Amino acid sequence: MKTYIVGNWKLNFTVGEASIYLHKLLKNLPNYRDVEVVVAPSLIALQPLSLQIDRHKMKLAAQNAFYRDYGAFTGEVSFSQLRGIVDYAIIGHSERRYIFREDDKMVAKKVAAAIRNKITPILCIGETESERAFGETADVIRDQLIGGLSEVSDDDLDKVIIAYEPVWAISSVRECKLATPDEISEVVKLIKKALKDTYGANLAEKVPILFGGSVNPSNAGSYLTVPGINGLLIGGASLILGEFTDIMEIAKRVRA
Ligand code: 13P
Repeated sequence: MKTYIVGNWKLNFTVGEASIYLHKLLKNLPNYRDVEVVVAPSLIALQPLSLQIDRHKMKLAAQNAFYRDYGAFTGEVSFSQLRGIVDYAIIGHSERRYIFREDDKMVAKKVAAAIRNKITPILCIGETESERAFGETADVIRDQLIGGLSEVSDDDLDKVIIAYEPVWAISSVRECKLATPDEISEVVKLIKKALKDTYGANLAEKVPILFGGSVNPSNAGSYLTVPGINGLLIGGASLILGEFTDIMEIAKRVRA
């Protein structure tokens, strides 16, 4: 399985800034064999950047899209419109769940729409600080995971990536804390068990699991060596070219 290094740029960079960043990134980007480099710029930048990138070296992801392919949905962009422009889509990010009120049903429809349009969904799940404090982590993880996958057929499970992002570890959250490798490992076990119980061991082991939450070059190595972790979803540090490329190099070394 590849190691995924995914940069989530959130609501940052104009189209011009994004293009300059990618120009600099591509200039020195090696053709990693086992590391899949992905960035998720703003929606408005995806189309021009898709013409600029070298898809042998890196891929684009959408940060969101709507689950219907067309129709009277003012302001929305569909996965079918993004087909051919992006290879991945981040779905169910905690910022979408808590700021834009997306629930597991909506997330499940988006995951299905992505797969239908040949886009790999990166389904984000993760508990809040209070859910963890109340001992609800296992239930939240299971509900978001199985709920988010509820419209995916067994045959399509290997087209899905899961990202575990504890909300309390995201750098923009007030008083965020760093997750420890042990805490991540516990949740990876929960994810694997839920997948195995629902889909069987063979299918479950095909699903990559990423970690996200204040990842930077000094902790990336320890997170990438957590058993069962296949990559990282990076917010703040992915906006800084040097930090993002350092993390790719760390991923390459961890693989070697
Ligand atoms: P940070 O890396 O800034 O904590 O963001 C994590 C995240 O939300 C990526 O999707």
